[in-house]
Amino acid sequence: MLEIRTLTKKFADMTAVDSVSLTIPEGSMVGIIGRSGAGKSTLLRMVNRLAEPTKGTIRFHGQEVSSLKGAGLRQWQASCAMIFQQFNLVPRLDVLTNVMLGRLNHIGTVRSVFKLFSDKDRMDGLLALERLGIEQTALQPAGTLSGGQQQRVAIARALVQKPKLILADEPIASLDPLNAKLVMDALKRINEEDGITVVCNLHTLDTARSYCERIVGMSKGKVIFDGGPNDLTTDEAREIYGAGDDFNEAATSTSISAAASEKTPEADIDEPAASGKVVNL
Ligand SMILES: Nc1ncnc2c1ncn2[C@@H]1O[C@H](COP(=O)(O)OP(=O)(O)O)[C@@H](O)[C@H]1O
Ligand SMILES: [Mg+2]
Repeated sequence: MLEIRTLTKKFADMTAVDSVSLTIPEGSMVGIIGRSGAGKSTLLRMVNRLAEPTKGTIRFHGQEVSSLKGAGLRQWQASCAMIFQQFNLVPRLDVLTNVMLGRLNHIGTVRSVFKLFSDKDRMDGLLALERLGIEQTALQPAGTLSGGQQQRVAIARALVQKPKLILADEPIASLDPLNAKLVMDALKRINEEDGITVVCNLHTLDTARSYCERIVGMSKGKVIFDGGPNDLTTDEAREIYGAGDDFNEAATSTSISAAASEKTPEADIDEPAASGKVVNL
């Protein structure tokens, strides 16, 4: 269980995250939505301590994360894997080495500097790639892969890290609809099969509705909605996106319709044609 209490981050006069409190049970998949600048990235960055909170606390299984230092802090950061919009792979290194870099936190520095990964590390890396359906790319330089494949490599790297939490910051914002679906399907499968908690920043509402059992809507640093996909009304969505009366979900659509078609909520907003496309695999 991740417990965030009155978490606040100020940059000079600007409050990027404003007294956010959230309780995220283990094994859940939560989507955080909001327009650009709402504070989504800053919130995730505080959870894994890439950014220092100005105020408030973060606890995981009762342990206070927000005050960890030294080895304890490194251990925490190793147990929350980050997935970024821009993949953050090393393009000239082959895919398998990129994946094994996820093991760095478990390997001594000297060994890691010389890239002396064990056979078990390699096998774990290959198995993770196989799970994501891209094991055939293992020996290619990561930079030669498509964006969708690179993001799946990043997810494989997160998996070998054996994380307790996956924090994904707009993982599909740079991807076309088909690859966006493959990446979201992969995150969902890991969440369901491994029981790893996934917190995923998304700026598209339809993706959050399709994949996340819980949606947190942020605006100007504050949580202004927290509930299931079916509970989010047009008015609330409009408020989250700061849109006018002409708001519809097309404005926030990635044109993907989740694998979980049986979970697609009753739309209370007219479904625009653009977001109704189903990608058949
Ligand atoms: N390092 C920083 N220094 C100053 N301001 C920042 C910094 N990081 C984020 N901000 C500001 O904090 C606000 C929230 O940003 P961010 O968390 O990136 O929002 P989102 O991810 O929802 O787009 C924005 O106004 C942004 O300009
Ligand atoms: Mg962001």
